[in-house]
Amino acid sequence: MDLELKGKSVIVTGGASNIGRAITLGFAAEGANLTIAEIDMPLGEKVAEEARQLGASGVQVIETDVTDLQQVKNMIAAAVSQFGGVDALVNNVGWDQLMFFAQTTPEFWQRIIQINFVGVLNCTHSVLDLMIKNGGGSIVCLSSDASRQGEAREAVYGAVKAGVNGLMKSIARENGRFGVRCNVICPGITIPDDDETVSANSMWANKEDMFTEEQFAKIAANLPLKKLGKPKDIANAVLFMSSRAVAGHITGQVTSVSGGYSMIG
Ligand SMILES: NC(=O)c1ccc[n+]([C@@H]2O[C@H](COP(=O)([O-])OP(=O)(O)OC[C@H]3O[C@@H](n4cnc5c(N)ncnc54)[C@H](O)[C@@H]3O)[C@@H](O)[C@H]2O)c1
Repeated sequence: MDLELKGKSVIVTGGASNIGRAITLGFAAEGANLTIAEIDMPLGEKVAEEARQLGASGVQVIETDVTDLQQVKNMIAAAVSQFGGVDALVNNVGWDQLMFFAQTTPEFWQRIIQINFVGVLNCTHSVLDLMIKNGGGSIVCLSSDASRQGEAREAVYGAVKAGVNGLMKSIARENGRFGVRCNVICPGITIPDDDETVSANSMWANKEDMFTEEQFAKIAANLPLKKLGKPKDIANAVLFMSSRAVAGHITGQVTSVSGGYSMIG
């Protein structure tokens, strides 16, 4: 199946680590032009090199904190100047730290809101006019199954990700007439391929602090598909949704890629 992503200009935020890395490399293998928006520049450059080897038409890494609107605007201007426009945006940056709501602080809430929601607002708002003028485009956000059914120790994160789902549905309604499609992918637990593929900024940087191997095995055993997700599982769904050739009639959808953890009709 040809996704017709060759030569398309694609922005992946947080495209250096874990799921973002797999998304970057997935687009690279399809021959896309990639802009990786990252705060981890060394890892970003490493993944950019892998992307070139895999066949990306072009790759640039732009140092960008997605919570800073001006930095986001500069990054998008760099994508336009290098690759002539933006066909697809993947809002992949996200962050959480597992703790019960009673243990959280207002500073923690603000950090979760900034990284997981304001970053999405900044990138989506900055790219929308451009897509409308160019006759359309795709926006895919990485949300979480925690947004769909709730998750202990992820109350604020789950709520903010639910906000991302709602935001995308409304923007999908407003902008479908311009050919802009907006979709959301909700991963379940998706652990890095290995320690080399994860940023020091990642919540998975010390994954043994989050879950023991025994806990991972128990979580997998409770899933209908009996296995945890791999970054590539999520990337495949993001590429599918980003492709007008195969997903051109899909917009406003929230889709879980979580081994059947949530099943929402
Ligand atoms: N991995 C999972 O189990 C899981 C589960 C559900 C949802 N998700 C969501 O999927 C997405 C990717 O998750 P992941 O595990 O690959 O994340 P990760 O933490 O491994 O990678 C995030 C990347 O974003 C970059 N980043 C962080 N803050 C940034 C900022 N302000 N500006 C620019 N870049 C920044 C980091 O440097 C890192 O490279 C996130 O939105 C996450 O919430 C992940």
